[in-house]
Amino acid sequence: MYARIAGVGSFLPGQPVSNNDLVQRGVDTDDDWIVARTGIKARHLAEPDCTSSDLALEACRRALESAKTEVDEIDLIIVATSTPDFIFPSTACLLQSKLGNHGAMAFDVQAVCSGFVYALNIADKFIRSGSHKKALVVGAEVFSRILDWDDRATCVLFGDGAGAVVLEASEKPGILATAAHADGSHHGILSVPGSICGGKVVGDPFLRMDGQAVFKFAVRVLADVAKECCEVAGIASHAIDWLIPHQANIRIIESTGKKLGLGMDKVIVTVDHHGNTSAASIPLALDAAVRDGRVQRGQKILLEGVGGGFTWGAVLLEF
Ligand code: ACO
Repeated sequence: MYARIAGVGSFLPGQPVSNNDLVQRGVDTDDDWIVARTGIKARHLAEPDCTSSDLALEACRRALESAKTEVDEIDLIIVATSTPDFIFPSTACLLQSKLGNHGAMAFDVQAVCSGFVYALNIADKFIRSGSHKKALVVGAEVFSRILDWDDRATCVLFGDGAGAVVLEASEKPGILATAAHADGSHHGILSVPGSICGGKVVGDPFLRMDGQAVFKFAVRVLADVAKECCEVAGIASHAIDWLIPHQANIRIIESTGKKLGLGMDKVIVTVDHHGNTSAASIPLALDAAVRDGRVQRGQKILLEGVGGGFTWGAVLLEF
């Protein structure tokens, strides 16, 4: 028994906000710097009353439609997010209520930009154990809420969005191998070291990052975990059809592809359209590539992510 992706969907709020739009809004930056260092040309920013569960709802409706699945068939909902609507109830429970599903097991996973591969890894275990049959696995973020818009080194990098898959029990091949790791000793290079509580700011509630340390760490572990996952499945890394990495930065993506012996013609890149949407970035890229026909049934796809914690992981699947 495999866990197989039956359908994919994604959602980006509002109109794209270009790098020049950020300059117009007062950010001390320029299009050339952002494009050269990150590959990002635009991002989407949710309206103030729009939450992660709202974005997740739209992505899930599209994933359910593409899987030809009714919402009451879903018996497991996992939402990967670092920007939940509330401390509790979980964003997964709020999403479940908005979807009109009753009774499915529902919970959130917090692994920052690795959240979607962590969630897919978990859902795979539930489905292969036989305890659950159809899961919604979602990455949804409103990262714009935790950005310091006066810190040009971070605010230009991120955006809001959501992506989802319907994962179902199937005799046809689906997920072939998974790998996931964390090393909390690196917590200091990327964090939100505070919160807003009862209207009061406690500590520093915005994202802080040592960009160069994150860059080096990400390139190393993304190549290692991709190789590990391919080894578990008994497949050479250059034999995969598509690499769909976390969409943080084109230079990290290119370095990873090179280390794996993959040309950029085998790598899905969408970071230019939506910036770094953390847990949403991998399903956003997967959905784009399925809808434009690059990703086809039967192909071998490697999804991989790295994020704060630090966390990292990969999922190799036959689509
Ligand atoms: N616009 C214009 N200039 C800027 C900007 C900006 N938005 N941000 C920084 N600069 C300036 C700095 O002030 C500095 O100027 P100075 O030399 O006069 O002091 C100069 O650019 C170089 O700054 P650095 O921080 O050294 O720039 P670097 O080359 O390291 O690039 C970047 C920064 C793009 C963040 C890079 O370190 C990087 O890509 N890191 C990876 C981080 C990442 O992708 N994080 C995503 C979250 S983690 C994850 O998803 C895995």
